[in-house]
Amino acid sequence: MKTKAAILWGQHEPWSVEEIELDPPKAGEVLVELTASGMCHSDEHAVTGDLPAITPLIGGHEGAGIVLEVGPSVTRVAPGDHVVFSFVPACGHCPSCADGHSNLCDNGGALLMGAQMDGTSRHHARGKDLWTMVCLGTFAHHSVVNEMSCVKIEDDIPLELACLLGCGVPTGWGSSVYAAEVKPGDNVAVIGVGGIGSAAIQGARIAGARNIIAIDPVEMKREMAQKFGATHSASSVAEAFELIQEVTWGRMCEKVICAMGVGDGELIAPIMALTAKNGRVVVTNVHSAAETHISVSLLDLTIMQKSLVGTIFGSANPQSDIPRLAHLYRSGQLDLAGMVTREYPLEGINEGYQDMRDGKNIRGVLRYK
Ligand SMILES: NC(=O)c1ccc[n+]([C@@H]2O[C@H](COP(=O)([O-])OP(=O)(O)OC[C@H]3O[C@@H](n4cnc5c(N)ncnc54)[C@H](O)[C@@H]3O)[C@@H](O)[C@H]2O)c1
Ligand SMILES: [Zn+2]
Ligand SMILES: [Zn+2]
Repeated sequence: MKTKAAILWGQHEPWSVEEIELDPPKAGEVLVELTASGMCHSDEHAVTGDLPAITPLIGGHEGAGIVLEVGPSVTRVAPGDHVVFSFVPACGHCPSCADGHSNLCDNGGALLMGAQMDGTSRHHARGKDLWTMVCLGTFAHHSVVNEMSCVKIEDDIPLELACLLGCGVPTGWGSSVYAAEVKPGDNVAVIGVGGIGSAAIQGARIAGARNIIAIDPVEMKREMAQKFGATHSASSVAEAFELIQEVTWGRMCEKVICAMGVGDGELIAPIMALTAKNGRVVVTNVHSAAETHISVSLLDLTIMQKSLVGTIFGSANPQSDIPRLAHLYRSGQLDLAGMVTREYPLEGINEGYQDMRDGKNIRGVLRYK
């Protein structure tokens, strides 16, 4: 079939919205008509080269839609089902999945290649095979993905909001709830208030944090942070230091979540300084693949018994946590609508990403239907 998609033909180029040829789903694969896709910062890393990506690439990994057709042997979903794509596939039986860490499913090894699980492509344009962002390609009206990337949700959850459950919300919420293990009464700092940070703030609030300090240079982000549950805000890590000293009576934050657009290794030591004894810093934001050095006082790490940990997908399990987050939305505890600053048509993708760079959006969403 023919459909439309936003393609990155080479690093540092704009997204090109054009007609593509999409093959029918093969074994284990699913054809989905997308309703919407969030514009996460991770696709921008493919443009800048901070994340290695193979072009030509259909971008997008934060999508939701309705299943149109399933290939042979598909058992998880059926035509008509409403699905959110998880940006990590989860097979359910590899060692990581079986151990309760399906965000680390062995099939994730295929993500940066962007092919179907059999190594071939269903997407084509200008006579070439196209690869897809983390085997999804949600900057498109339709896509063919593996059933391992599909999570069925109830029909009452609006798909134009549910798309956020494919990346930003579980990643941010899980960064607080699972990776940081925020406990009732903890002081928490969240650095960067985009799609990930705004969900991290909500996760910390739901987990019972006492003070939540949002750090972002953009004033609108700091104001919005309060709607999501932040109790205080600062415009930089340096400015946050004194504020956190005052708010926590010198104890500092038990948990710190890093959710900036691009991580900066030089900021790790000052970020560790925001952290309490026995505290934990969670690095959720992506650093450039080329960055291999960070500033850090290892004496501080040792004698203050601090920890510095990474997380993918907020250490959440897609098949259980995406429906869990949909329930939290339904019960009014999770604000998804407030996270969507503006909707754009697929053709508005370059404007949407410019707005992200300019700090205008918590999350911009491409709305197809
Ligand atoms: N680990 C994962 O599984 C995972 C998943 C999704 C996204 N990410 C990464 O998380 C990061 C955030 O993604 P996003 O979509 O929310 O990005 P975003 O661009 O929407 O938001 C980033 C925010 O950080 C702020 N910021 C930039 N520099 C800052 C600084 N020095 N101090 C404080 N704030 C600063 C910006 O103003 C912006 O509000 C990206 O690096 C993204 O690739 C990681
Ligand atoms: Zn993402
Ligand atoms: Zn697995």
